[in-house]
Amino acid sequence: MILSEINIQKLIDTAQAMVADNKGLLAMDESYPTCNKRFAKLGIPETAELRRDYREMIVTTAGLNESISGAILFDETIRQHLMDGTSFIKSLTDNRIIPGIKVDGGTVLMAGHPGEKITEGLDNLRDRLKEYAKMGLKFAKWRAVITIGKGIPTQACIEANAQALARYAALCQEEGIVPIVEPEVLMDGEHTMERCFEVTEQVLHTVFNQLYTQGVLLEGMILKPNMIVPGLACEKQESIDEVADATIKCLLRTVPAAVPGIAFLSGGQSSELASARLNAINVRFKNKLPWELSFSFGRAIQQPALDIWLGKEKNVTEAQKALYHQTVCNLAARRGEFNDKMNK
Ligand code: 13P
Repeated sequence: MILSEINIQKLIDTAQAMVADNKGLLAMDESYPTCNKRFAKLGIPETAELRRDYREMIVTTAGLNESISGAILFDETIRQHLMDGTSFIKSLTDNRIIPGIKVDGGTVLMAGHPGEKITEGLDNLRDRLKEYAKMGLKFAKWRAVITIGKGIPTQACIEANAQALARYAALCQEEGIVPIVEPEVLMDGEHTMERCFEVTEQVLHTVFNQLYTQGVLLEGMILKPNMIVPGLACEKQESIDEVADATIKCLLRTVPAAVPGIAFLSGGQSSELASARLNAINVRFKNKLPWELSFSFGRAIQQPALDIWLGKEKNVTEAQKALYHQTVCNLAARRGEFNDKMNK
């Protein structure tokens, strides 16, 4: 790919800023169905106004920028405004939090591959990215989903998803937008940690092969992978340190040193476990590896706050305290200074 010198420097600067100073990313880019599902579970009405209110609660949390370098938004949110009339993008930018955007169109069943999914959203992506760049968004996210099960994932599913991730990443860089490349191997299932390792290794090899083939600038992207964990329903649940070691062993085998940062997804782990595992990874490996070991958590940062907020104005202050607390826990985990007492 032919990138101008200006775009190359811009991509590198943004990618580095996204993982600088022990901060991490806040994923608040739930699509309509995902956000509505989380609201419905708590009896919160599934309206555009409440989605806006919820996200205003998040971005107006005092001290958010102490731990959060960037926030991933959903298309609906970037067209909404805070109560005082400021756009979400301006509010974040004024607060020195880099605004980003989810650009994938979600997953659908992959034809001819029962139980497997492919991510959609490449149609018109170039035009959408041009608009996003104009609006001031500096990075983007595309999530591919790999399911572990009997006879799956297939090579076909891994390759199709890897190719789409690389096409998305190349299009982003053309517009000066840093792509977060997110190939998520799901935690659901009875599979062992070894199986998660094996599948993630294969997925990351395939993804980086495609990124190379399609000329993506590795210095100007962020990888957002799963940690190497046993399936949620697996009998054997390895210790936090074992998860940390397996995760880094897998990443060392697959992720080129040119990538500036790895920002883990939380994937449905509890807030405490996600922070404890990120902490162990940094205790054991911080400053010994070529990449920053950061976070891009959605549920692990938001869930306690959402449980308190419940769609009610009177709960905003308490919800913001919970949100702030989770961000501080993860800043500590980035430094390898998180401990259980922080959650008491
Ligand atoms: P979780 O941390 O809740 O997995 O969300 C991260 C994300 O952005 C998924 O695409």
